[in-house]
Amino acid sequence: MLKRVDVVTLFPDWILSAEELGVTGKAIGSGQITLRVWNPREFTSDVHRSVDDRPYGGGPGMVMRPEPLARAIEAAKADGASDVVSYLSPQGRRLEQSGVGELAHRESILLLCGRYEGIDERLIARYVDEEWSIGDYVLSGGEPAALVLMDAVIRQLPGVLGHPESAVQDSFSEGLLDHPHYTRPEHWAGLDVPAVLLSGDHAAIAQWRSEQARARTVARRPDLLTSQGSEEE
Ligand code: ADE
Repeated sequence: MLKRVDVVTLFPDWILSAEELGVTGKAIGSGQITLRVWNPREFTSDVHRSVDDRPYGGGPGMVMRPEPLARAIEAAKADGASDVVSYLSPQGRRLEQSGVGELAHRESILLLCGRYEGIDERLIARYVDEEWSIGDYVLSGGEPAALVLMDAVIRQLPGVLGHPESAVQDSFSEGLLDHPHYTRPEHWAGLDVPAVLLSGDHAAIAQWRSEQARARTVARRPDLLTSQGSEEE
């Protein structure tokens, strides 16, 4: 199970906000997860501490220089970070619940965040082992994606959520969307809580929830059913 997360980032404070808030904050605060950040700017050797430069061949934007990133990654690895470097990029494998589960089962992960204009391709060739994307849109850098990945992975770990069943019952854990949820009051804004949920009949409640989950998935995300292979072939 995951114990350690290292992040190479030009915005360490952004990543370290995970220490203060939410499920990541709880897991880090309790010592279940160790979070370390590695800022390439601290691994520069020039007076300007420059981490990027103009692209060869011209064009807009700046490209992250390979040397400071390489030194930051080497320092992280020498400190015991994962040997597998995971780069957040829109070109990567789409992060889905199955991938989240795989990452949660590793001992440690080493995330590399770049500014979106790019990282020198030689750094990627030499150091990056895998790429993960959080969706088909472009962020200005990998940090929000790293925070998304960290939240999704850490909430899966045993003992992180208040109730051990919570993560198991999430959307997607069975390949379906979640069922609706209700709490008090029983009548609100002219709307009632479905009677079955007040019945105390646990089998009937489970049945209703599973029907709702399936109906919602059919209506909103039929692709989830076909990609599972349960409707086709
Ligand atoms: N960096 C920029 N866009 C990204 C995305 N969609 N997923 C992961 N990392 C990114």
